[in-house]
Amino acid sequence: MVVRKAVIPVAGLGTRFLPATKAQPKEMLPLVDKPVIQYIVEEAVAAGIKQIIFVTGRHKRAIEDHFDRNLELERNLEEKGKEELLKIVREIPDIADFIYIRQKEPLGLGHAILTAEPAVGNEPFAVLLGDDVMVSEPPAVGQLIEVFERFRCSVIGLQEVPEKDVEKYGIVGGKEVDEGVFKLDELVEKPSREEAPSNLAIAGRYVLTPGIFDALRKTPPGRGGEIQLTDALQLLNRREAIYGRILEVKRYDTGDKLGFLQATVDFALMREDLREPFLKFLKERVEKEIRDGGDG
Ligand code: G1P
Repeated sequence: MVVRKAVIPVAGLGTRFLPATKAQPKEMLPLVDKPVIQYIVEEAVAAGIKQIIFVTGRHKRAIEDHFDRNLELERNLEEKGKEELLKIVREIPDIADFIYIRQKEPLGLGHAILTAEPAVGNEPFAVLLGDDVMVSEPPAVGQLIEVFERFRCSVIGLQEVPEKDVEKYGIVGGKEVDEGVFKLDELVEKPSREEAPSNLAIAGRYVLTPGIFDALRKTPPGRGGEIQLTDALQLLNRREAIYGRILEVKRYDTGDKLGFLQATVDFALMREDLREPFLKFLKERVEKEIRDGGDG
């Protein structure tokens, strides 16, 4: 069975970016000129996914509007002969089919995924977390689909993290069965350093079998009083094998201010029209900082 659907939870409040996120979703913050959420959707589409299921909440209308047509804007661009922009704007609603489901209460990532069940049905599906922007070829979620097609089991995207950071992530333990591919025997949400079975962190990309829904229904609130996807996976692992794959990607945590700034710089440098003048600016800026005795 092919992976046709992706669930993207976007109900979070984005408190780490206040006041920018007071009246707009954090997912709409741009890296250069494209909202973060569009990079995530494009990654899913590049991996062959046809249907995007957003689990959304109040104050997230801008996301729906972004993936819808804007006839007034199109007419305006057409009249002004701005063909290139018109093409960019027109293509967005057609890159996938979009479905929106409201998560009525912020009860955690696990609960958000369970909310998507009516739209997913009884088939394997991908999950992409909106804070993790990944640059790679093949796309991150495509690397997981490859492993799913081999084993027909849930597959979790992994990244090695420094030991001091294990408590910020879901951490897994398991046995390496192929280069970078692990059969998992333990999944723990944000463990202490002592509890952590390894330094392999869950990196915001998953391919899940529909068995996860039953496991989620049976999962009691865990860390932070929330229903944790990691806990449900640990439960599912008693009945089904679960694999993990170290993602070969450049990953940016755009939910974090520093990560967001790093992504902004790198994405600007990847742009042909900006690379040269921006690099010149950065170079001069760093030189000035050094001259003035900055500690960087
Ligand atoms: C979530 C997951 C965690 C995972 C992380 C990746 O945590 O619960 O297992 O490692 O995403 O970004 P959050 O960052 O939402 O607290």
